[in-house]
Amino acid sequence: MSRRGKQASRGSALSLLVLPSLLGACDGPQSALMPGGQDAAQLLLIFLVMLGGAIVLWLALNGMFLYFTQVDRRHVALRHGNRIIIGAGVVLPTLVVGALLAWGLSIMPSQRAPGDGLVIRVNGEEWWWRVEYWPAGAQEPIASANEIRFPAGSRTELQLTASTYIHSLWIPSLGGKMDMIPGRQTVLTLHPDLEGFYRGQCAEFCGASHALMAFEAVVMAPEDFDAWLAEQAAPAPEPQSDLQRQGQAIFRDEGCGACHAIRGTAFTGTVGPDLTHLASRASLAAGIMEVERDDLMNWIAHTRDIKPQVAMPAYDWLARDELAALAVYLESLE
Ligand code: CUA
Repeated sequence: MSRRGKQASRGSALSLLVLPSLLGACDGPQSALMPGGQDAAQLLLIFLVMLGGAIVLWLALNGMFLYFTQVDRRHVALRHGNRIIIGAGVVLPTLVVGALLAWGLSIMPSQRAPGDGLVIRVNGEEWWWRVEYWPAGAQEPIASANEIRFPAGSRTELQLTASTYIHSLWIPSLGGKMDMIPGRQTVLTLHPDLEGFYRGQCAEFCGASHALMAFEAVVMAPEDFDAWLAEQAAPAPEPQSDLQRQGQAIFRDEGCGACHAIRGTAFTGTVGPDLTHLASRASLAAGIMEVERDDLMNWIAHTRDIKPQVAMPAYDWLARDELAALAVYLESLE
């Protein structure tokens, strides 16, 4: 086999190896190709039709190129040639691209349809998500963080703001992305339909820990969502065991309550995430760890190694048993 032949076969073997992993990336909880709601389904349709249009254009233009260079190589009269260039090079792309643009724009209003009552305010922080639920008619919000839950089958309005840097909220399986801009509010409405766990990710480069700014999006049956929201509105459970009480005392003595609120206690800080029902969430530290003993201990002792430039200092002076007690207390906050 010639050198070039060997290179080509090595290349195609490599692409055979790479292809399944690329296709595998189309699956999973963070894929725009696996829509879980109306908005993502529309965006997928736009993508597929645009892709179809691009393929038609590509095939038509390359087909003509091949035809006139390989098949019919007779001399073409200047007038005839000009007609081909204007027809295939100007008129055809203008018609195809223009039609795709008009159709794509006609879908935009439905992406901005008003919500059905539930409002969720999300503020982009460094590098986590402050979340507040405002059910219709609510006088005060129900605070949470780093997880957004939706009732299936209705349209929820997301009011987006940011503290210092520009972030972008994106749940690929549920819809498009929307920037979060300091000093102003942007609005995104989403209509999820399929219950399940999805993943969201900050989609605007915002600094050192941009890639570590993720969250879970959970779509629930409406009655399950209402029950869950009522639980979230309740104060935190009291510590039950000696170890949990010891953990709460460490939380108090280390001043954690200056930054974190735990409703139902004297801890009312607002700098960091609300921890009232931390253990009911699917993840810790904005989608990068689990709410379980080892991860909690690891996070508290090594915050800045795990998430560069995060505001929370690393409590690396705490002894292992103190970290464990703290983790046990936080794990009890269901
Ligand atoms: Cu927040 Cu990128």
